[in-house]
Amino acid sequence: MGLSVIILAAGQGTRMRSSLPKVLHPLAGRPLVQHVLDTVNRLDDATLYVVYGHGGEKVREAFPGYGVNWVLQPEQLGTGHAVSQALPQIPDDHTILVVYGDVPLIGCETLQGLYSCATHGELSVLTTTLDDPHGYGRILRDSGGRITGVIEEKDASQSQRGIREVNTGFMAAPAGLLRRWVGALDNSNAQGEYYLTDIIALAADEGVTIHGVTAESAYEVQGINDRVQLAALERYFQRKQAEYWMRSGVTIADPDRFDLRGEMNAGQDVAIDVNVVLEGHVRLGDRVIIGPNTVLRNTTIADDVIVLANCVIEDAIIDSGSRIGPFSRIRPDTRLHSNTHVGNFVEIKKSDVGRGSKINHLSYIGDTSIGQNVNIGAGTITCNYDGANKYRTTIGNDVFIGSDTQLVAPVEVHDGATIGAGSTITRDAPAGELTLSRSAQMTRTGWKRPVKKT
Ligand code: UD1
Ligand code: MG
Repeated sequence: MGLSVIILAAGQGTRMRSSLPKVLHPLAGRPLVQHVLDTVNRLDDATLYVVYGHGGEKVREAFPGYGVNWVLQPEQLGTGHAVSQALPQIPDDHTILVVYGDVPLIGCETLQGLYSCATHGELSVLTTTLDDPHGYGRILRDSGGRITGVIEEKDASQSQRGIREVNTGFMAAPAGLLRRWVGALDNSNAQGEYYLTDIIALAADEGVTIHGVTAESAYEVQGINDRVQLAALERYFQRKQAEYWMRSGVTIADPDRFDLRGEMNAGQDVAIDVNVVLEGHVRLGDRVIIGPNTVLRNTTIADDVIVLANCVIEDAIIDSGSRIGPFSRIRPDTRLHSNTHVGNFVEIKKSDVGRGSKINHLSYIGDTSIGQNVNIGAGTITCNYDGANKYRTTIGNDVFIGSDTQLVAPVEVHDGATIGAGSTITRDAPAGELTLSRSAQMTRTGWKRPVKKT
């Protein structure tokens, strides 16, 4: 008996007031529906169907080559109608699990519990009890506690509205039965929609056993309807991640100002200050210190590195013992070998900086290889672009570049060379020598400053 998962993602998401389909809005850097897809992908041998509609092409395009079946619901006529669009492709002997694309934190174990109750001709519904059930479908039970139906808020009587046990929308049923029940739905209700929830009363009438499975926490079944709920769930998710990392031995200065939008690996005694944003895959070795207001994206940082405040580091590898910042920008394809120092207002792109080398102030280093123990003076610029093409600068070991130097690539400065301050270097500089290009200094004795005319 196989498992088919139908992910409902065709709703318009009107309350987001967005041109982006709701399910593509990110939570912790990943689209809402991707959280759901990643979770259902962990269910064994599940065939996935995503029902898309409004702005649907954007949703499809966001997941190229993803192993799901895309099902178009051309008009949004209700959750029952949405499910019916996928049914023709699903064999009768499958169990169908219906999940929502806008409920990102649903847990894999909860889903397993839900569908394993529905494998023997039975139906299961995921419910939760809320202090404020407003807006949700209410679970109706008979005097024996058996579920007899779901009544939508808009169709509910005053007393039914007092029920606090609500339908989360997640349910599971055998495909053959679901097909029959969905085929029997009509839209004679307050919203004029084909409600999937009406199948519960149909099942109850047939004497089918209906299991109410309870969700572990309200957050797990929290759907996103507007940006207020999105932000609240983001903070909850970030709080959970921060707690996980603090319990694993990372100091986080303020868990409410911690944002991990991707995956992190961290060694022992890592310290992360406030307002640090970690994106993509970030690896931090032992005793790494990340100062406040820093963005790290797809970056690997080895042991004993200090990143001071206000740095942006992207697609880079930083070896042990290095010190970066404050205010440094390290751009993609940069490698800083061990014990390098990169200081304030330094931008480095597509470059390799050798062990123990220092670029401490106000420099642009692009398309450059720098050897070991090099000192790059303040205001050094590699002129790597002629307006059409990019060229490389090569700097050997033990080189000293004086302040305010321009290195016009392609150019090479050989081992042990010294470049005098204020030089524009357009040809290779030989090893061990002082090279400079600078107009001779002169003084006009007796020169008078102009004075303002009266
Ligand atoms: C639904 C349930 C309600 C439950 C609530 C939980 C029904 C009739 N009601 O109400 O009992 O308490 O969810 O959040 O099912 N969708 C489509 N196509 C459509 C309509 C909806 O794909 O034609 C998708 C939406 O994208 C969304 C999900 O189905 O992911 C739920 O739709 P929504 O309109 O939010 O249903 P609710 O009114 O919230
Ligand atoms: Mg909803």
